[in-house]
Amino acid sequence: MDYKIINGTIVTATDTYRADIGVQGGKIVQIAKKIKEPAQEVIDAKGLYILPGGIDIHTHLDMPFMGTSSSDDFETGTIAAAFGGTTCIVDFAIQGKRQSLKGALKTWMKKAANKAVIDYGFHIAITDLNNRVMAEIPEMVAAGVTSFKCFLAYKGALMIDDGALYRILQESKRAGALVMIHAENGDVLDILINDYISKGLTEPKYHALSRPPEAEAEATGRGIAIAQMAGAPIYIVHLSCKEALAKVKEARDAGFPAYAETCPQYLLKSYNNYLEPNFEGAKYVMSPPLRDKSNWEPLWKGLAYGDLQIVSTDHCPFNFKGQKDKGKDNFAAIPNGAPGIEHRLMLMFHEGVNKKRITLNRFVDLVSSTPAKLFGLFPQKGTIAVGSDADLVLWDPKAQFEISAKNHHQNVDYTPYEGFKVKGLPKVVLANGKVIVKDNQFLGTAGSGRFIKRKPVRL
Ligand code: URP
Ligand code: ZN
Ligand code: ZN
Repeated sequence: MDYKIINGTIVTATDTYRADIGVQGGKIVQIAKKIKEPAQEVIDAKGLYILPGGIDIHTHLDMPFMGTSSSDDFETGTIAAAFGGTTCIVDFAIQGKRQSLKGALKTWMKKAANKAVIDYGFHIAITDLNNRVMAEIPEMVAAGVTSFKCFLAYKGALMIDDGALYRILQESKRAGALVMIHAENGDVLDILINDYISKGLTEPKYHALSRPPEAEAEATGRGIAIAQMAGAPIYIVHLSCKEALAKVKEARDAGFPAYAETCPQYLLKSYNNYLEPNFEGAKYVMSPPLRDKSNWEPLWKGLAYGDLQIVSTDHCPFNFKGQKDKGKDNFAAIPNGAPGIEHRLMLMFHEGVNKKRITLNRFVDLVSSTPAKLFGLFPQKGTIAVGSDADLVLWDPKAQFEISAKNHHQNVDYTPYEGFKVKGLPKVVLANGKVIVKDNQFLGTAGSGRFIKRKPVRL
C-alpha cells in the first residue's frame, strides 16, 4: 500500500464517519475502521476531515476573450486550484468561428498537456453551428466531452440563436450530453450597452445596469422552455439572481430536469462593489454581473434546499493593471471575468458550513459529488469509495486564514475576496494518490494531471 490515512473523519455527500483509508496506484483500495496492513507512508489525519477532492466544472484557463487572454494558464490555474483543495476541473474549449469541435478540443488539449497538475476535462462551447458540427456532437461524446455550452449573450461574438440551441439540445440528448447555457438576453443587452455608452455613461457600474436581472430571468426561462420542447435536460451556468432562480425552481417543481449552479461571488459580493473608487469596480466586471445583496439569501436557500445543485467558480481572471484597464473609458471593453479557483472550498466552508447555511455533507455535495454526477465523473471522482481515484483533501476545520492577493497562487494581481477571513482550510491534498499540497507547500508536478474521458450523461 502506498499510503495509509489514519485517524481522520471521512465526509461524503451522505455520510460522516471515522475510518482509515488505504491508497495504492492512485486509487482508494481500502476503507476500514482500522487498517492493519503496513504502508509506505502513513498520514495522520487526527482532527481533520477527509473530503473527496473539489471538482470545479466551470473554469476558463488560458482563454482568449475580449481582445486578451485569461491570465492563468493550465499550470498556474491548476496549482492555485490544488492549494484550495480542488483536484479536478472541467474547463471550456471554445469553438472558433468556422472551426470544428474537434479542432477546438485539440486546441484546448494542447493548452493543458504538460501543464495541468490535477485531472481535467473539457466542455465545448458551440459558437458556430452547421450540419458538420451537428455530426460532431456524438463524436465528441465518444471522445469524453459530454457537455456543451451555449451562450445566449455576447452578441456578435459567442452568442447563438434559439434555433441553434434547440438543435444542439436535441442532438445532445440523443448522444448523452448535457447542454449548459449562459442565460442572458444578448439582443436586449446589446441595445442597453450601446444606450449607456452613447450617453457617455461608461463607468464599471453601467456594466451591471446594462445587464438587468430580468434579462437573465428571461433567458433562463426561454432556455428551459426550449429544452422542454427538445425533450432534453438543461444546466444553467453562473446563476446570479432570485428572478432566474424562480424559473429553475418552477421547472423543477413541475418535474423537469433543469439544473443550475451559482458561484461564490454571487453569494458574497454585490452591486456595491462596482462603486469602488479609482476604477476598482472593474475588478468585478463579469457576466452576469454582481447583484443587489437581497439576492444572497435566496441563493443560499436554493443551495440548502436543492433548487441549486452545484457551486463552481467561473474562474476567468484578468489583471487589474494591463487587462481590466482596457475599459478605463468604456465599461464594454473591460474583459468580463474574475478569479476564484483557489478560494471556492474555503469560502463555501466558512460562509456556508460555519455560518450554518448548509450542512457539512451538503457542502461536499455542492463542491464535489453533484459536479461529478452531472458531468460524467462519478464514481471515479466526487466520493470516497473503494475503486475511486484517490483525490482527497485533508481538511483542517480549525485553521484560520485571511484571503489576499499577497498570499494566493492565482496568476492575477487581485482577488475579489481580499481581506475575507475564513476558518477551515486544506492541510494536505492528494491527487491520484500523490500528495501535491502539504502545509501550504506545492509538491506536485506540471503535466501530471490527466485528461479524463467523461461518461455520457443521461438525466
Ligand atoms: O464574465 C464571465 N463570466 N466571463 C467568463 C465567460 C463566461 O461568460 O462564462
Ligand atoms: Zn458564461
Ligand atoms: Zn464562464
